[in-house]
Amino acid sequence: MNSRLLDVKGLTVQFHTPDGPVEVVSSVDFHVNKGETVGLVGESGCGKSVSSMAIMGLIPSPPAKQIGGEIWFQEKNLLAQSPDYLRSIRGNSMSMIFQDPMSSLDPAFTVGSQIDEAMQFHQKIAANEAKERSIELLRRVGISNPELRYHEYPHQLSGGMRQRVMIAMALACNPQLIIADEPTTALDVTVQAQILDLLNDLRQTFGSAIIMITHDMGVVAETCDRVMVMYAGQIVEEAPTEVLFDQTAHPYTEGLLRSIPKISGKKVKLYSIPGSVPLQRDMPKGCRFHPRCSYATSLCQEKEPPIQELAPGHRVKCWHSDQVIAKQGGV
Ligand SMILES: Nc1ncnc2c1ncn2[C@@H]1O[C@H](COP(=O)(O)OP(=O)(O)OP(=O)(O)O)[C@@H](O)[C@H]1O
Ligand SMILES: [Mg+2]
Repeated sequence: MNSRLLDVKGLTVQFHTPDGPVEVVSSVDFHVNKGETVGLVGESGCGKSVSSMAIMGLIPSPPAKQIGGEIWFQEKNLLAQSPDYLRSIRGNSMSMIFQDPMSSLDPAFTVGSQIDEAMQFHQKIAANEAKERSIELLRRVGISNPELRYHEYPHQLSGGMRQRVMIAMALACNPQLIIADEPTTALDVTVQAQILDLLNDLRQTFGSAIIMITHDMGVVAETCDRVMVMYAGQIVEEAPTEVLFDQTAHPYTEGLLRSIPKISGKKVKLYSIPGSVPLQRDMPKGCRFHPRCSYATSLCQEKEPPIQELAPGHRVKCWHSDQVIAKQGGV
């Protein structure tokens, strides 16, 4: 299809560990269309960052034991390309805003020189032109006094400003795909809202597609066209955002949505999904979510559910999705 920008098919990532190989991403399929924002949600450790690092070609082997499947971007399967080719697209046609800005900005260089470098590596432009464009980018991401900030080091900036610098770096070459890995978790609520507005504006200006990784369903509701829900290394539900909220079909998604605090009504204790994400080496048989699921039956303990398409674009991996939907009065 013409509008398809990224097509991930059967992505599987295994790591070597002292206890033997573990598979942390298992046969994940998804796509991203040009210009859309797709959410990737799920609890800590479910494989969101590893999946995105695999797309960026940033998982070295070792520690990765094996990366399987296909990642199609600009008509090439990235898993079959050379490190040189991957370097030529990374930071250029696709870029990533990392979970922790401090670990990705180099403390020894000014923020300006780091944005310049991202541009000069991919585009043959003179140093003074790079500087001019970097200052303009800093201004665009809402950094006041960018001429001055250009010469500062990361530690001289606040957390919100560092996150903006990361976004400026990610945008330096007008990428078609931006992977934003929890771009707001380290920030306070007002700065979070500003960063989300900024990403939305930039998407409209540059037409880039965004994969928004978060565990915050509020962020998803506000920013995403579509959502993919991950649990224990698998995608368990995928739907347009309103459909995911109104016709939730997976018990895990239902749990995530029930854990959102509501402002209206009387105070009630926040729901939390019982139990915790299983360790990869003790992955339950059948459906991986069954030990924590109130809908689970013996079928769920025995047999892994297939992915079924309930409506165009709404896919779910659950034996009892009809009951989950019926409970909300959706069908
Ligand atoms: N280099 C590695 N070696 C072994 N296991 C790893 C390695 N990197 C990640 N993992 C494991 O892969 C799993 C998925 O990790 P990942 O960082 O993708 O989680 P996440 O969904 O991004 O979580 P969070 O919300 O906390 O960022 C985790 O169990 C993690 O321990
Ligand atoms: Mg992560």
